[in-house]
Amino acid sequence: MRRNQQASEDRERHLREIESANVQLEFAKQQAEKANTSKSQFLANMSHELLTPLNAILGYSELIKEELNGSQAPRVVLDDCNKILASGTHLLNLINEVLDLSKIEAGKMQISCEEFLINELVDSVIAIIEPLAEKNGNRIKVDYQTDLFVMMSDAVKVKQILMNLVSNANKFTRNGIVSIIISSVSENGVACLNFLVKDSGIGIEPDLLDRIFEPFEQADLSLTRQYQGTGLGLTITKHFCEMLGGTISIASSPGQGSSCSVNLPVHNTQSNKNNIAQMRQKLTS
Ligand SMILES: Nc1ncnc2c1ncn2[C@@H]1O[C@H](COP(=O)(O)OP(=O)(O)O)[C@@H](O)[C@H]1O
Ligand SMILES: [Mg+2]
Repeated sequence: MRRNQQASEDRERHLREIESANVQLEFAKQQAEKANTSKSQFLANMSHELLTPLNAILGYSELIKEELNGSQAPRVVLDDCNKILASGTHLLNLINEVLDLSKIEAGKMQISCEEFLINELVDSVIAIIEPLAEKNGNRIKVDYQTDLFVMMSDAVKVKQILMNLVSNANKFTRNGIVSIIISSVSENGVACLNFLVKDSGIGIEPDLLDRIFEPFEQADLSLTRQYQGTGLGLTITKHFCEMLGGTISIASSPGQGSSCSVNLPVHNTQSNKNNIAQMRQKLTS
């Protein structure tokens, strides 16, 4: 009898301890979530504060550059102005990456879908990367292995996904080839477009490959210094792929180049036949 009572008291004490631990855990979880939201909010605010003066610096540098063109000013002044513009643009990209990630973490990143021409989007990415590819002695090749030419998705995000992959491929390759292959695939019964970005560059060590989508993960410091960047590009890219219902994977080995594969749902491209007909006309005209 007494033993039974003792056992029941022990059980109750045990339950009280578990309940108390649960309350503490819940409290700690809430505190951590609050701290994370504050951090994201702080980053978002800070980035906005930084963007305002930076846009003024870039805007006025552009103006000075225009005024210098055709003037008697020595060449070195124009060169200096170009350096301000290049550094300012680099800083702008970094701030935008931090802003994007804090928006994603705060659950404030939104999607806005529209129909767009795939080749126009690919061309706009190449137009930006082409001068950088020339500097690195790289050739960009595009291969369409699909009959699809219209996609219904968030064009800005699809462009950013492709931009990040192509700019990485070019950044880590010298005197090589960057190829973009676009094909149709089906993933779990969903019609998708596959964007495969391959390069013949330095490749990725297996231990980095395992954590490559984590924020701030980059190759060792000597390489990072050489190539610049924040280590946020692929984190944001993966988030965007998932937001658009897609997937991303990377295969690589050191010295053998890398290939990044993204599957994105084509969505209902047949939904508005008139719109598609107009686009087809635009393509052939
Ligand atoms: N195509 C590639 N070839 C070699 N290394 C790559 C490639 N793409 C990504 N990496 C490695 O993954 C890291 C993270 O990439 P990313 O998130 O885009 O950050 P960042 O480009 O700002 O360094 C890079 O710093 C690099 O070490
Ligand atoms: Mg990058």
